[in-house]
Amino acid sequence: MFRFAIHGARSRLMLGLVSVPFLSILAACGGATAAGTGAASATTPATTVPIARPSNPGGPGQAASMTGDPQRGMGIFASNCQACHGAQGTAGVSNPGSTDGTVPALNPIDATLQSKDPKVFAYNVDLFIQHGSTPGGATPALKMAAWGDTNTLTQQQIADVIAYIISINPAK
Ligand code: HEC
Repeated sequence: MFRFAIHGARSRLMLGLVSVPFLSILAACGGATAAGTGAASATTPATTVPIARPSNPGGPGQAASMTGDPQRGMGIFASNCQACHGAQGTAGVSNPGSTDGTVPALNPIDATLQSKDPKVFAYNVDLFIQHGSTPGGATPALKMAAWGDTNTLTQQQIADVIAYIISINPAK
């Protein structure tokens, strides 16, 4: 029972990203035989909302672990992102044919992407910016481009725009 109490508390905070620390907690107090079962339940707890992930596959880019400059990121955002996500990310434009009907706002950003840990926050946002994503719906007019995979932005520019997005979504 003790193990599951730890698991519940941690998974609400960090959702899918707890698997490694969770496994080591299990190993420490439960022994290796329990690890397989525990890991499966760690990734599929009944009460957690899954973290939003892009439709396009791929891991984090270099930008996710670089230091970004939010001031430069503000300019990059205004030139490249504002047309769809709105000024300062406050209101996504209409997106006919998509399930949501609009491009998501980034300020405030989807709650599952936000984290008090800036590294986790950067990772979550980076996946979308690197690889792009097509929203749900039969014929979405607008989709998120793969800024990293197409080298439209450099990794430093992506790190800067991530720092800007984090700066406009202060930790709650
Ligand atoms: C052509 C319109 C368009 C532009 C320009 C654009 N995006 Fe997006 N973006 C989208 C759409 C549409 C989605 C929703 C994707 C989905 O639902 O899978 C999205 C999703 C995102 C998300 C995930 C948000 C969430 O709630 O799921 C982030 C982060 C993001 N964009 C950042 C950026 C950044 C940074 C830029 C500029 C470098 C940018 N976008 C430029 C259309 C755009």
